[in-house]
Amino acid sequence: MSALPTSCIVAVIGAGAMGAGIAQVAAQAGHAVLLHDAMEGAAQKGRAGILAGLDAQVAKGRLAPAERDAIAARIAVAPALDALAGAGLVVEAIVERLEVKRQVFAALEAVVAPDAILASNTSSLSITAIAAGLRHPERVAGLHFFNPAPVMKLVEIVSGLASARAVLDTLLDTALAWGKVAVLATSTPGFIVNRVARPFYAEALRLLEEGAADVATLDAVMREAGGFRMGPFELMDLIGHDVNFAVTRSVFEAYFCDPRYRPSLTQQELVAAGWLGRKTGRGFYDHAPGAVPPAPAALPAQPAPRAVTIEGDLGPAQSLVGLMEAAGLAVARVPGTGRIRLDGASLALTDGRSATARVAGGEPADLVLFDLALDYARARRVALAPADQAPAGAVAAAAGLFQALGKAVSQVDDVPGLVVMRTVAMLANEASEAALSRVASPGDIDRAMTFGVNYPRGPLAWADEAGPELILAVLETLQATYGDDRYRPSQLLRRRVTSGRPLAG
Ligand code: NAI
Repeated sequence: MSALPTSCIVAVIGAGAMGAGIAQVAAQAGHAVLLHDAMEGAAQKGRAGILAGLDAQVAKGRLAPAERDAIAARIAVAPALDALAGAGLVVEAIVERLEVKRQVFAALEAVVAPDAILASNTSSLSITAIAAGLRHPERVAGLHFFNPAPVMKLVEIVSGLASARAVLDTLLDTALAWGKVAVLATSTPGFIVNRVARPFYAEALRLLEEGAADVATLDAVMREAGGFRMGPFELMDLIGHDVNFAVTRSVFEAYFCDPRYRPSLTQQELVAAGWLGRKTGRGFYDHAPGAVPPAPAALPAQPAPRAVTIEGDLGPAQSLVGLMEAAGLAVARVPGTGRIRLDGASLALTDGRSATARVAGGEPADLVLFDLALDYARARRVALAPADQAPAGAVAAAAGLFQALGKAVSQVDDVPGLVVMRTVAMLANEASEAALSRVASPGDIDRAMTFGVNYPRGPLAWADEAGPELILAVLETLQATYGDDRYRPSQLLRRRVTSGRPLAG
């Protein structure tokens, strides 16, 4: 362990939302903290905000009054940069502008000891660029907390071109000692989380633009089948479309307009309208007091099938067979290519091709595709899409099967890859690219996505479980169908399919 000892003074520059939170984390871990802000009264305000938060915890019985007093006593306001001379670690959390950050780091070098570590909480700027021109760029690294810093577990430790290994190790161990989950990332646009999460929003926006389903239905499918804590549209409304669009745009521009990160016109329109989400009372949803949220689309109740025939292996949906048996359905098994045969419908898990294309390719005309679920036993909803050629009763027959298993059923348009499968494939592809280009290790990428944005499973582990061949097939089909390079599969994914080695490492 090379964590900074608690006797080391931690300075935080910038006492806004992030700086105050970081100061609280360091003080709770036992460090004396110096909080500095260039704006008159801002550091005092930041400190007062921390104390108010601690008081609320005392009132709820979550924090002993003596502990609150001890934490408060450890946080002092530093009136000027000179007062930070004794700090062993400085965390900068000021305005997100490169020139301003560089000025602050240059001024700091003249103040702190030669072995003090200088860290930036930047979420989008290059650590290499922040450190460039300093006398000791090797002691600069990113220490990227998530909002709110005292609550969110993840910290990305970001290495610039010049960052010393010992500095990164110290920051990793210190973040761990502060009770955080620490991952190591190289200084690349979006680091891990803000990059790998892009498809979560982007695919939802594309599905909406294509008319796959409405916002409430897509959100419900992602929550209740995908197992995500929030749907993409409600999450974008919470984050704010100005912020979410700006991050997407900055990652897109930073990767020299790679179509993978192309922003959405739909979201740009929301920003233009000032419909920024919860904070303005309107985004994809109406957040006015008393507004009734729209209900997701669900097919009406249908009779359970009298008999079910499982043709071959259902791959990642194989657990459905046990659920059907447990629900008392008569299930027969025959060899085949992975379909569920009912009276009036043939069901298959999406493999990226539309149902319409599969029927045109020779599959039964009553084909209805169903979407991936995180766990079919726990899923409360499943999305279905019938082929254009399917007779009217096919989707009803298919719905009856899933309803017999206790699921709500949402019909979506016959879009390639449906909703959860398409999103998971794109998240896994982005995670593969990040691993391939050594942004972070596969384990750290999965950890970052589970602790930084609460994904129910790391994208690489999820791809391993669904089957890398299936994920690759979905991506290849999306790329071919749309003729869009945003769907081009990662070379790492291709290699893992060839070698059979897991993506998650
Ligand atoms: P904020 O606007 O709430 O606070 C910034 C504070 O820095 C203000 O109090 C301002 O007076 C002060 N400041 C500005 N220039 C200064 C200077 N030259 N010297 C000293 N103080 C100065 O901003 P927020 O949201 O706390 O963000 C701060 C940093 O953290 C940014 O780099 C941002 O990208 C990053 N970040 C923000 C997250 C968020 O969700 N808000 C999440 C993770 C990182």
